[in-house]
Amino acid sequence: MQRIYLDHNATTPVAPEVADRMASALREEFGNPSSVHHFGQRAKAAMDEARAAVAALIGAEPSEILFTSGGTESDNLALRGAAEALAATGRMGIVTTGIEHEAVINTAKALARRGAEITAVKVGHSGIVTADAVAAALTPQTALVSIMHANNEIGTIQPVADIARLAKAAGALTHTDAVQSAGKIPVDVKALGVDMLSISAHKIYGPKGVGALWIRRGLRLTPILTGGKHERSRRAGTENVPGIIGMGVAARLAMTKLGDEAVRLAALRDRLEEGILAAVPGTAINGDRSPRVPNTTNISFDRVEAESLLIALDLAGIAVSTGSACSSGTLEPSHVLKAMGFPAHRTQNSIRFSLGAGNTEADMDRVIQALPGIVEKLRSLTQAPGSRLATSAGTRR
Ligand SMILES: Cc1ncc(COP(=O)(O)O)c(C=O)c1O
Repeated sequence: MQRIYLDHNATTPVAPEVADRMASALREEFGNPSSVHHFGQRAKAAMDEARAAVAALIGAEPSEILFTSGGTESDNLALRGAAEALAATGRMGIVTTGIEHEAVINTAKALARRGAEITAVKVGHSGIVTADAVAAALTPQTALVSIMHANNEIGTIQPVADIARLAKAAGALTHTDAVQSAGKIPVDVKALGVDMLSISAHKIYGPKGVGALWIRRGLRLTPILTGGKHERSRRAGTENVPGIIGMGVAARLAMTKLGDEAVRLAALRDRLEEGILAAVPGTAINGDRSPRVPNTTNISFDRVEAESLLIALDLAGIAVSTGSACSSGTLEPSHVLKAMGFPAHRTQNSIRFSLGAGNTEADMDRVIQALPGIVEKLRSLTQAPGSRLATSAGTRR
């Protein structure tokens, strides 16, 4: 069976160019980039090249790029590093939203246990936070505003430039998690006006376990990893050289493909969306359709458990997600849809389709063809007296 992968927001397949370069990096650039000799300097040169490529993807200077172990660490460093560096000023406030990735939400919670005051700005059914709502949350105590660029579950794009302008006027720093926007839409740190920005390699056809935090020149963060003087004393530990080299290749590929691929994916996504809405009754799109990253749609299916639909689609060779992102395997109700104010049943009946490089029109048509029968079958099971679905409807384990 030809399988269709529609879960690119969870992770992307590694691009062949990335895999090839990483294989040669493992063999050839094995030196420690901190070593003075030829082998070390060769690894360092390759890492510098990657740093320049990642910087170019987001309109930054190479010296402002700090390599990390991924989006999660980048978010942790931005929040923890800024909170600790700013604690001496008496500013203890962090303004964020309920639709952030867990890497931000749970880090903010951890900081709250150490005295930070967290304000989660409300986000309605649109899935887009308004700059006015952020303005209302800012106080003279606000140290940091952390609001994501594109949401991983529904794809909506937040007005980060407007938010950063307001935060700056209030004397606060701004961090944005651009893990789901970089490589999909143009991301320019200067146009966004933020102070820190997180990205991750495995969302842009690079390897897992490597990412970057862009830190505006001159901004000092308290490191969360202490030890040697790696990454300009901002993150200790011998660098993941092959991963970083792979991320550099992925960033360069993303830049060259950005415009055309965005148009192609948006057309495919719209075809899928229209097709599903027309073919399956009781369906609705979660969140505003614009502004949204081109590869993502999140659709609710009335009277269907997302978990059952995901499994049925997988059996039909179609891989999707319930939206609860990287921690797949946990099929909890979506915290994003919950934060958007949707009722319990809708947080549990929604499926994310996230498209990517390998997808074609034929893939979309196969999904549109397969879905009505699968959904009808699941709905009939729900209605059958005594069925597991009937007894568990509404209260998912
Ligand atoms: C918006 C967002 N931020 C952060 C992350 C975490 O990135 P990583 O998997 O590289 O730790 C993800 C992963 O899904 C994400 O979607």
